[in-house]
Amino acid sequence: MVTDALGRPGTVLVLGGRSDIGLAIAQALSPRTTLLAGRGCPIEFDADDVSSHQGVIDAVVAEHGDLDVVVLAFGVLGDQAVDEVDPSRAVAVMRTNLLGGVSAATVVANQLRAQGHGSLVVLSSVAGERVRRSNYVYGASKAGLDGFALGLGETLRGSGAKVLVVRPGFVHTKMTQALPKAPLATTPEKVAEVTRKGLASGAEVVWAPGALRFVMSVLRHVPRGLFRRLPV
Ligand SMILES: NC(=O)c1ccc[n+]([C@@H]2O[C@H](COP(=O)([O-])OP(=O)(O)OC[C@H]3O[C@@H](n4cnc5c(N)ncnc54)[C@H](OP(=O)(O)O)[C@@H]3O)[C@@H](O)[C@H]2O)c1
Repeated sequence: MVTDALGRPGTVLVLGGRSDIGLAIAQALSPRTTLLAGRGCPIEFDADDVSSHQGVIDAVVAEHGDLDVVVLAFGVLGDQAVDEVDPSRAVAVMRTNLLGGVSAATVVANQLRAQGHGSLVVLSSVAGERVRRSNYVYGASKAGLDGFALGLGETLRGSGAKVLVVRPGFVHTKMTQALPKAPLATTPEKVAEVTRKGLASGAEVVWAPGALRFVMSVLRHVPRGLFRRLPV
């Protein structure tokens, strides 16, 4: 990440510019310029309208120059009970989280590769690390996005551009306000701090809170028969 003498990036672009986590990350990085792109944001951006992504990024770069950090923060949780029986709703979750993410990440990666520097932060989730019965539609969308982002990070090696995959657990935001609090729940500010440190250290994957790294390394290997009996 290119930073000034105080360790601050020049320009941070948040895709999903009203996301509580995305805004907290921008604040924690304290860049010279923060650009918010989303529905109803200063820069209009619809993750679902994949054919528009190239034009949005081109217009941002034409006006503001190189992008130091781009945060892929848009996402929908869906409603598992409805999504698992309504194919159009299940597809809608995939369209935003996975297809929108794949398109935006590819457009941004091409830009960062051409610049020869810059970081793409992808908001994944522990929900994608081991997909659970209770939210498998959302979890599958995040599993796909996570795998895609890891692969993209590999292709960018040596280009100067990087990908940081962020895997939060339960975060208190608009997205989760109707849900009961989960174990190890955290805040957007704490996710932002983990992200800031991850960018500064050149990490490829971070968990928020950090303890989830160890919890998930166990959970992802629990045999299916036992996993389905766990209260997760
Ligand atoms: N909260 C958690 O527990 C948690 C945990 C792990 C990962 N995450 C991930 O972290 C990211 C940020 O979530 P958050 O917790 O900050 O939730 P949030 O405050 O609800 O932010 C999500 C944002 O995504 C935007 N969005 C949804 N569909 C979009 C579309 N088609 N085009 C453009 N923007 C769209 C929403 O825009 P509108 O304001 O226009 O609706 C909203 O601002 C998401 O990818 C989420 O899956 C969240």
